Amino acid sequence: MAAVDVVVMAAGLGTRMKSRVPKVLHRLAGRPLVAHVLGSLGELQARRVVVITGHEAQQVEDSVAAWAQRSGVPVPAFARQQPQLGTGHAVMQAVPHLGDDGITLVLNGDVPLVQGRTLRSLVDACGGDRLALLSVDLPDPTGYGRIVREGGAVRSIVEHKDASEAQRTVREVYTGFMAVPTARLKAWLPRIGNDNAQQEYYLTDLVKLAVQDGVEVVATKVADRVEADGVNSPRQLAELERTWQLRQAQALMEQGVRFADPARFDLRGTLQCGQDVQVDVNCVFEGDVTLGDGVSIGANCVIANAHIAAGAVIHPFTHIDGEQARVSVGEGALVGPFARLRPGARLGAQVHVGNFVEIKNATLADGAKANHLAYLGDTDVGARVNYGAGSITANYDGANKHRTVIEADVHVGSNCVLVAPVRIGAGGTVGAGSVITKDTAAGALSVARGRQVSIANWERPKKPPK
Ligand code: UD1
Ligand code: CA
Repeated sequence: MAAVDVVVMAAGLGTRMKSRVPKVLHRLAGRPLVAHVLGSLGELQARRVVVITGHEAQQVEDSVAAWAQRSGVPVPAFARQQPQLGTGHAVMQAVPHLGDDGITLVLNGDVPLVQGRTLRSLVDACGGDRLALLSVDLPDPTGYGRIVREGGAVRSIVEHKDASEAQRTVREVYTGFMAVPTARLKAWLPRIGNDNAQQEYYLTDLVKLAVQDGVEVVATKVADRVEADGVNSPRQLAELERTWQLRQAQALMEQGVRFADPARFDLRGTLQCGQDVQVDVNCVFEGDVTLGDGVSIGANCVIANAHIAAGAVIHPFTHIDGEQARVSVGEGALVGPFARLRPGARLGAQVHVGNFVEIKNATLADGAKANHLAYLGDTDVGARVNYGAGSITANYDGANKHRTVIEADVHVGSNCVLVAPVRIGAGGTVGAGSVITKDTAAGALSVARGRQVSIANWERPKKPPK
């Protein structure tokens, strides 16, 4: 099989986005557009990948490199295009990176949802001696390059701005993906001119040159339109986002997940679900999330980087984000409404975390409860502990974080402050309103607050009569 070198064009400004952010860095399902394109290369085993950058080149390169490192794929090579004189000019910048043999696959950095198997079949259609184009039939082809055929054979691609009225009625358009024998590409690129409506060097002019040189041009139509949808405007980006999100919801429903409304669901990462999972409206999942059998997610939850075990119920308006330290919620646990689980929160089975409770870098053993208005940070909470309303761990002394240990079966009353480092012995009780600065013995009642004073028949001050 011929070696494949890949060129991804990502140098354009993206004028129609009307944004300071380079177009290829706008996000679809939480990932930059160009990262989607690079992600589709997985099964191709390309010899080399070159990304053409230009507009905000450094920002695009840093972002692509960071994405590649996070995703465990090799960081691509970059070639800068300054100024940006069109897609043909863009590919010229990649020439020094391309081998002399093999096939060059050219991809548009702003057409994010192309699939690996489609690219594979495009490379196969090239076969090392043909110019292979990926095309698509669009009900509204406005703005795209039209595929002009004569007697079925592809003769040229005419850009929308250069097309005649008759050519504009053509619905078959170029997707921005082509596979070219590299030796031919290198010979043709210097022959592309810029005598056209936009005075740009169009890569699409390769088709005419191939026809002139008697090289066969094949255009294969992509069956699924979404693979060819380019992003040129905020509107197209939003439409593609909704299309993609609906597909993700449909794929999950195929596996048995029940959505109150699949149109009000967003997945910006991966979601693995067991059986009988239910998701209410307006939930957002990010990073890697797994939901065990029978998990129920209430309305308006945001859940990122978390494992929720079987039978757990996440009530509405709960925010969970494990970032680098995945959150775990144990079997049958009840969380929320209005709970916040931060990185390193690990909840055992049957744990209850109620409204306005924040948990960070803390472990709650089986059956522990923190039901109202509380903070647990850098803490180990034993089994069956009851942590009272309004209590907090003071884990930060202004310079360092310290741990709190609350042993099994402790009862912490309301409105307590546990000043870390501190340990509450097993089975102990902390009286409401206590500020605990010293370790307490197992089984002890600890009260650390001013004693109550009552003065009999106290008369409040009165205003003098007028
Ligand atoms: C291009 C095609 C058009 C096709 C459409 C599909 C050309 C001349 N036209 O048009 O036939 O129907 O894609 O989506 O190729 N870029 C550079 N450097 C440049 C110009 C563009 O790197 O100098 C990059 C852009 O960042 C973008 C891609 O190339 O990722 C496509 O550029 P864009 O200007 O969006 O081309 P279209 O007008 O959409
Ligand atoms: Ca485009």
